[in-house]
Amino acid sequence: MKHIFQKGKDLTKPTFLLLHGTGGNELDLLPLAGMVDDEASYLSVRGNVLENGMPRFFRRIAEGVFDEEDLVFRTNELNQFLHEAAQEYGFDRNNILAIGYSNGANIAASLLFHHQHALKGAILHHPMVPRRGNELPDLSGKSVFIAAGTNDPICSPMESKELQALLEKANASVELHWENRGHQLTREEVEMAAKWYRKLLFD
Ligand code: MLT
Repeated sequence: MKHIFQKGKDLTKPTFLLLHGTGGNELDLLPLAGMVDDEASYLSVRGNVLENGMPRFFRRIAEGVFDEEDLVFRTNELNQFLHEAAQEYGFDRNNILAIGYSNGANIAASLLFHHQHALKGAILHHPMVPRRGNELPDLSGKSVFIAAGTNDPICSPMESKELQALLEKANASVELHWENRGHQLTREEVEMAAKWYRKLLFD
């Protein structure tokens, strides 16, 4: 997968897996990652699917309607890429924290839904429920921060709460943070994510 790897100053920190939104690329979330932890390593990946020239991490049939077969295929592909990247760059495969926005948050949630050991945790900006009806792996010990918008036209507050409930049912520890905004990624929510991350790191 097309990507950027930036080795951090402190190799005991998690490696951030950065996953952009629809139409974005692997450069988009680098400044945001720096706001969360400027000493961590970053693996920033570009989605392998193109929708009218816009990179995405999996196909969709319509806005908010996912191609489930492709979602599962792309989730497995990304998980496999993480194994390979960890070997190539020498970072700890078991200490990856995903940071995703929108479509990138959805594939990060899908990694959690399908692969018990894919991620140590995740910061999900405006995620949806990636899939319904599959049994989640045991996510004990995983920590997830969700930033959601009370007026998000793409992801309703009900869906954000549903995602929280599904992850908690699988034993993940989840913090759901609300912004009185829409689908946009705000500086405020990144600051809240950074606060959550620092607490996680030093607890
Ligand atoms: C998706 O397709 O993953 C969601 O609708 C969010 C987005 O527009 O990327």
